[in-house]
Amino acid sequence: MDKVGGVILAAGRGERMGAPLNKAFLLLGGRPLLLHSIITFEAAAMVGAYVVVAPPEEAAFCRVLLASYGLQKLAAVVPGGLSRQDSAAAGVRALQDFGLVVVHDAARPLLSVGLLEGAVRHAAGHPGAALVVAVPVKDTVKMVDSSGIVRETPARDGLWIAQTPQIFRRDLLLRAYAEAERDGFSGTDDASLVERLGVPVEVYRGSYDNFKVTTLEDLRIAEVILGQGAGHSGRPAPAPAALMAGASSPVTVPEIPAPSVRVGIGYDVHHFDSGRPLFLGGVEIPGSPGLAGHSDADAALHALMDACLGAAGLRDIGHHFPPGDPRWCDASSLALLADVRSILAAAGYAVCQVDLVIAAEMPCLSPYIDAMQQRISVVLGILPGSVGVKATTTEGLGFVGRREGIAAWAVATVQRSDE
Ligand code: CTP
Ligand code: MG
Repeated sequence: MDKVGGVILAAGRGERMGAPLNKAFLLLGGRPLLLHSIITFEAAAMVGAYVVVAPPEEAAFCRVLLASYGLQKLAAVVPGGLSRQDSAAAGVRALQDFGLVVVHDAARPLLSVGLLEGAVRHAAGHPGAALVVAVPVKDTVKMVDSSGIVRETPARDGLWIAQTPQIFRRDLLLRAYAEAERDGFSGTDDASLVERLGVPVEVYRGSYDNFKVTTLEDLRIAEVILGQGAGHSGRPAPAPAALMAGASSPVTVPEIPAPSVRVGIGYDVHHFDSGRPLFLGGVEIPGSPGLAGHSDADAALHALMDACLGAAGLRDIGHHFPPGDPRWCDASSLALLADVRSILAAAGYAVCQVDLVIAAEMPCLSPYIDAMQQRISVVLGILPGSVGVKATTTEGLGFVGRREGIAAWAVATVQRSDE
């Protein structure tokens, strides 16, 4: 029997998803979308090896990501092209020594091992086979012109929706790509390129679950379907390599749920401005030059707010209180901290505990530490004992040592408020 190789296409940009990231790397059921198809190919006994096609600029990242799963059959991560057709051709060309090639879109994460194996078995049993997995159209289809007028209603009988996998003899598929390139023909699937060679392409009955994740709504639907099936438990699990290395099929990988207790870090620096009062940790400190900045420039509270926001994955204070906005001119950072508490609460988080380090060569801060601790605890609604405030000099070193400004670091622990 011909050796069977797979090509998993993940070199698109996912523009219709509207996410800043290639959709192949978006999380579905706690793991990258792409990994779902990979697991299916790993588990399909008839597939000897497969390549993953990734955008050229993400290929190195993809290799690193996949290396952590201890995959057994991944032959290579291949840089893709501008169109799906170019990416598929690159993948098939990279799969040497395979008589039969299975092309699959990573955007169809719910392909089952049963469907993949059934289609491969069917194709392998029909020499010269060209096969497209597809499902009958359920809805009535309209041909609509650019002004929105229906021009035609094709009979529904005989209309099928093409999916992947699509399976061909490798030499036939390579010829199809070469002839399409020569003729300037571009198709949205592989079968259409083979069809134009006059080679019959057979339909193999697929599954409606094997739909293509194109928009965020599709991702949510896939999440629901996955949640109904076995295996999506939300339980924490061992590290990827431990489960994947040497695993027998079906392969399982861990799902890491968002933790309910989370930690954030913040850092801020302001330089001295002798024309302003000094605020640190929410306390006004007399007799010292203040700090330059749009608000009261309380570097300690700014670091603290970033730590709280960061712990909840809610960006930073610059995002919530843009520096150019007149509302924050000379604003009290204690008031901003109260706003941060509300922003976290709206996202379902409460701050449990914080810790601060202030690096200042001057003034001496020890007389004010208790007051800082008190004020922060009141605004955050936590006990004073859950607020750490420490001050240090830098022994004359660096910009703090040269008395040019003050730096502060903070960590914060937040917890989902429903737990
Ligand atoms: N694909 C690819 N190389 C391209 C374009 C698409 O490998 N240059 C892959 C995608 O990664 C996806 C499959 O082809 O797995 C189907 O394409 P589609 O659903 O259109 O994905 P994207 O092109 O990523 O999405 P969009 O069209 O919304 O940008
Ligand atoms: Mg596309």
